[in-house]
This record gives sequence, structure tokens and C-alpha cells, in this order.
Amino acid sequence: MNKYTHHNNELTLKNLNQEVSLKGWVSKKRNLGGLIFIDLRDMHGITQLLCRPESPIYEEVSQLKNEYVIEVKGVVLERESKNNQILTGDIEVLISDLNVLNTAVNPPITISDQDNISEEVRLKYRYLDLRKPSSKSYLIKRSLITQQVRQTLLKNDFLELETPYLVKTTPEGAKEFIVPSRLYHGEGYALAQSPQIFKQLYMISGFEKYFQIARCFRDEDLRADRQLEFTQIDIEASFSKEEDIFNLSEEIMQAIFKNVLNKELKLPIEKMTYENAFNLYGSDKPDLRFELKLMDYTSKIKRFNIPLFENKEMVRALIVPNNPIFTRKYFDKLTEIVKKNHGDALAYVKNENNNLQGSIAKFVDTSLVEENHILFLIPGTYFNATNATGALRKQLGQDLNMIDENLESLVWIVDFPLFEYDENDQRLYARHHPFTAPKNASEFTTNPKDMIARAYDLVWNGYEVGGGSMRIYDQTIQNQMFETLGFTKEEIENKFGFFIDALKYGTPPHGGIAFGLDRIVMLATKTDNIKDVIAFPKTQSAKDLMMGSPSMIVEEQLEELGLKVVK
Ligand code: AMO
Repeated sequence: MNKYTHHNNELTLKNLNQEVSLKGWVSKKRNLGGLIFIDLRDMHGITQLLCRPESPIYEEVSQLKNEYVIEVKGVVLERESKNNQILTGDIEVLISDLNVLNTAVNPPITISDQDNISEEVRLKYRYLDLRKPSSKSYLIKRSLITQQVRQTLLKNDFLELETPYLVKTTPEGAKEFIVPSRLYHGEGYALAQSPQIFKQLYMISGFEKYFQIARCFRDEDLRADRQLEFTQIDIEASFSKEEDIFNLSEEIMQAIFKNVLNKELKLPIEKMTYENAFNLYGSDKPDLRFELKLMDYTSKIKRFNIPLFENKEMVRALIVPNNPIFTRKYFDKLTEIVKKNHGDALAYVKNENNNLQGSIAKFVDTSLVEENHILFLIPGTYFNATNATGALRKQLGQDLNMIDENLESLVWIVDFPLFEYDENDQRLYARHHPFTAPKNASEFTTNPKDMIARAYDLVWNGYEVGGGSMRIYDQTIQNQMFETLGFTKEEIENKFGFFIDALKYGTPPHGGIAFGLDRIVMLATKTDNIKDVIAFPKTQSAKDLMMGSPSMIVEEQLEELGLKVVK
């Protein structure tokens, strides 16, 4: 490894006249009046090489092509025309020895940050795409963040332990990936959605402080912040309370901020109840980098008798200053967003120098909206109107440049509802997962629908980067939980029997959290595309364009697994 004296982001005027040896890829070759200049690239950066016509290796150097892998020896000289964009921009290396380690065919994509080739092609040749400094910088940050996390947890006496990926299918949570069993036809494993049950079993086994940087698999519809397989920083601690998990999590985040982002993170991180977050910002993951708050205009607009708002449980409002982007076309776009988020409709009224315009202008007067402002109104049920207005808030925040990109906003959302009621299925679902402890277990028999969970999420700039809870450690309460979720005794026994059994043998109180590592890296690198921070991601349509997966399962494999494809 130390055959080479320096890497390619190291040499400066301090090294003048030193004999050095370097290695890397030919990133660019130029011939200027007989002088050959080469940008030599390695994982650290670029160093300019120079070869003059009188050099004995001139012929060999002139044969080099982009992406050839070479090693060179030479002397460090001061450059005539300096480049202040790169660290090595003051020097160049006049080469005396060249050894070509490998040749390369012409790559299908240009290895350059300026290249604006489509994502499809980039992902097909991801191994080349990753040669670009910008692509690489995401993964380098990822590694640095992982190191900070690991160091902080080890310093706090946590043990790094693994859990199985091939597990038993569970009926709750996201859709699972199923792996058919070759030995037991008709049976199969599920790929773990998270290590949840196993980390709790570690607590029952007396390990007290566990963590794992674990891959999780969920067959979900993909979004800009979701992948089918992603990485969790998974943590569990016995004899812990909420405050212990908050403190530990904050120490981890502070280490990342300090040592990777070079920023200060003030502790403690603010806490907000789910109820307040949803009521004020229309979201359980509010972006607090801008202050725009949702208002309740239900009673304020009653006297105007607007047909659109008749018999609506709630009318939500947002007021922002007028802006040239508010065109007809833009309102159409906003209306679509509102409808997609279950709002019944979007009404607006603009006050321009005391002139009212907009879809409900003819019904109202200027007392409703101050001069040079626009009022948006969204009717619906409490939940739907608030949810849709939250989505509108997010969009306006972006489009009106209300967000200071240098700000970082972290907030704990606490006191989540324990359950979510599904109108279609007419049953309760666990909002987090069915192992989450309630604040008051006696409500299982009196008012399960409104129970509050001892659960918390960490939200960073409007993204949920982590979530966890205190767990149920009493088998009676765990049983009540499963019963409230509508499982029969047989189902509980069949799906979770081993777990209920395990709880009987002296389970310590425990709780934990899991962070989405990919999302943390996204936030830390200021990208809004999760694929940037994953070396080999799937596309939005769940494909690996490089390998060509998913791919057909051949007849032989199907037979071995006892499967038939239904066309
Ligand atoms: P949860 O399901 O909230 O909790 O997941 C924890 C964190 O993982 C991240 N995350 C994802 N990241 C990328 N792609 C996905 N598809 C994806 N899904 C989730 C999020 C989220 O906050 N076992 C519990 C944790 C616990 O209770 O300790 C769990 O898995 O950042």
C-alpha cells in the first residue's frame, strides 16, 4: 500500500522538488503545444501530471487514454497557471516513469461532475458513476457518519450484535419480501423488516445494551426517501426510560454534526407533541426551518355562507404574502397537491391593493385577508383538511424560498397515538408496531382508540430520521395489545406465541430507537434523493438497472422450490 508516496489530493507548494510516486486513473489528457497534461484521479482527488516532448516516455504517455490505470514517478513543480478550485492546484508533477497497470475501453458515461446524463444511464453504469468525485463524496460522508455512530455507541458500553435476516413472517407493518423454502414446499421465510423482535429478545437474554447497523427489507412503494432495502442504526437498552434514549440519540447526532458537518448542534433537542405538530404544521414530521403555521378558519368564514364550505367539519387556512408565482397554472398545481392529500378542495383569495381576486373573492371582504397577502382555505374533516394544508405548507415553503438552507431543524415528536383506525378494514392498527408500550395500559379496556403511546420520532428538516418507543414488557399487556389489534387467541399463539412465552421469564423494562442511516446521510449531504447515498440503489420502479433485477426465476429453480408461476 505504501508503495506510493502520496495520494492525489495531497501535494502542495510545500512538496516542491520532491520526488513522488502516485497512482490512479487518467481522468483527462490534454496536449497543449506538445506538452501533455494529465489529470490523475484517485479516491482522494486530482493531481496534474506533466510530460514534455523531450521525455523518453513521451511516446508512451501520448498513448494513454481516459480511465487507464497507471502509476507514475516524478518531481513536484510549481504550476504556471494555477487552479484554485482544487487543493493540488498550485503544483504539477513532471513525470519520469510510467507504468500502465491496466487499459480501459471508452466509458459510456463521462466521469465528470459536470456530466448531466440521465439517472437511468448513471445507474446502469453505477460502478463508473461512482468514480465521479461528487458521487464518491456521498459515500465517503456515509462512512464517516457510520464511524461517529459506532464510536459513540461503543463509548456508551453498547454491544454490537447481529440478528437474523431470514425470519418468520409477521402480519403487521409494511409488506414483506418472502423467501420460499427449498426444504419445506409451501413454506417460507420473510426478510426482516427490522430487528425489532430480536433486539427485544436480546434484552430478555440480559444483554442490556445492544446496537446494530442492520439492513432492513420492506416491499414498499418507493419515494425519494425510501428504498426496498435500507440501513437502520438499531438500538435497544434495558432499564431505560425515554430520557435515556433521547440523551443517547442526541449525543450521536451531536457527534455527527461536530465531526462530519462541522456544525454545532445545541442540546437538548426541542420536543413537540404529535397533537401540536399535526395541528400547527399539518404533519407528524414538520419542517421547522420556516414558521408558517396552519390556522383554523372554520368559524371565521361561517358568516360569508360560502357553498364550498357548507357542512364541513373544518376549514384550514394559510396566509402568505403575494408573489408573482401565483398564476392560474400554479393554483392548479396546488389544487392537485391538496386533492392528493385528501383535502376536499382548495379555495383562495388574493388581496391586491384592497382588491380581492380569486375563487371565493365574490363571497368575502377585505377583513379576511390583509393587503398584499393571499389566503388559502381548505375544507374537509379535521384530519383530511389539516393533512392537505400541511402538504400545501410544505410546497409553499419550497416554492416561495421560505427555507434557509443553512439552518438545521431537529425536533422530537412525542405522545403519538398508539393506534390508527382504518375505515376500510374497520379495525385498529398499531401506529408504530405492536410492541410499543402505552402511556396508560388501563385504557385497553376503556378507550383503546384514544390511547397515547410511549413512542417518539426524531425529525430533521421535515424528514423522519428515527423512531422508537418504550416497549411492553408485561405479557398480559402484550396480549391485550394483540387482542385490541383484532387477533384471535389462535393467531396470537401461532404468530407471536414464542414472544409472549419469552416475556414470562423475567423481562426487564426496556426501550429503544432505530435511525434511518440513509436518511441521516441524505440530510447531512443536503441531497433530496436517497439513491445518491446508497452505492447500488434500486430505481423508483424497484429495479436494479445494473444487474437487471428482478429477473425471471428459471423453471429449475421454481421446481426446486415447489412453485408455479400464475400468468
Ligand atoms: P421505523 O419503521 O420507524 O421503526 O424505522 C426506523 C427508521 O428507518 C427509516 N426508514 C427507511 N429509510 C429508507 N427507506 C425505507 N423504506 C425506510 N423505512 C424506514 C426511517 C425511520 O425513522 N423497529 C422500529 C424502531 C424501534 O421501535 O426501535 C422501526 O423499524 O428513518
